[in-house]
Amino acid sequence: MILLGPPGAGKGTQAVVLSKTYAVAHISTGDMLREAVKGGTPIGKEAESYMKKGELVPDEIVTGIVAERIARDDLKKGFILDGFPRTVAQAKSLDDALTKLGQKIDLMLYFATSDGVCIKRLSGRRVCRKCAAIFHSTNIPPRSEGVCDFCGGALYQRDDDKEETIKKRLLVYKQQTQPLIDYYKKARVLREVPGDLEVNELSEVLATTFNEAHLA
Ligand code: AP5
Repeated sequence: MILLGPPGAGKGTQAVVLSKTYAVAHISTGDMLREAVKGGTPIGKEAESYMKKGELVPDEIVTGIVAERIARDDLKKGFILDGFPRTVAQAKSLDDALTKLGQKIDLMLYFATSDGVCIKRLSGRRVCRKCAAIFHSTNIPPRSEGVCDFCGGALYQRDDDKEETIKKRLLVYKQQTQPLIDYYKKARVLREVPGDLEVNELSEVLATTFNEAHLA
């Protein structure tokens, strides 16, 4: 299953819920790239400058890390791709990689979310440095300010959640990622969900959509 939508649509938040509910792996290219940056790996060093500017990391880097990840044995029950693919070239490369593994995309959930909602969500987002849990200063506040409810780690604001970078990321999404809506409509796997809904309401819609797609 793929989660597609603009930055701040709530893909990461819902991926955690879906992954727990259906006991399938959550693969986030954003998280993988941030880990690589933190670890100072060659991929991380190359990706960092693009991420800071709110631009997409080159296709060949991202498709390489995803192809390696989805070929591992722990994904037999299925998996959720969050933040990948983001270009038509990435989608084609994913199709090729899945065909080689004898698999296919069953469902693509498109989070239709308005710009204003995305901007508010991203500017208030706080992430745990230790376990990567996602909070929001007003929508989903932690019990104690600046501290993760789950592991006690410190919360921080992502570098790319600054106003100018958010605007750039929304523009990049419209130019390079939105064409995937047609790509997956043609593949007959796309279902649109209302991304502006609050977290629990949206989780309910996703569960219904998942069941209607006969994947549960
Ligand atoms: P990535 O980490 O994938 O960022 P993104 O797609 O911009 O998505 P976000 O993580 O910003 O938002 P989200 O939809 O997951 O929202 P969230 O659940 O956190 O990518 C970062 C960078 O890495 C890219 O810019 C690029 O450089 C690079 N990259 C990654 N993948 C790549 C690829 N495939 N190709 C090339 N480059 C790639 O929620 C946001 C906030 O809202 C949170 O505070 C949350 O608490 C709150 N919230 C969530 N849902 C709700 C709700 N329903 N109601 C109210 N508040 C909510």
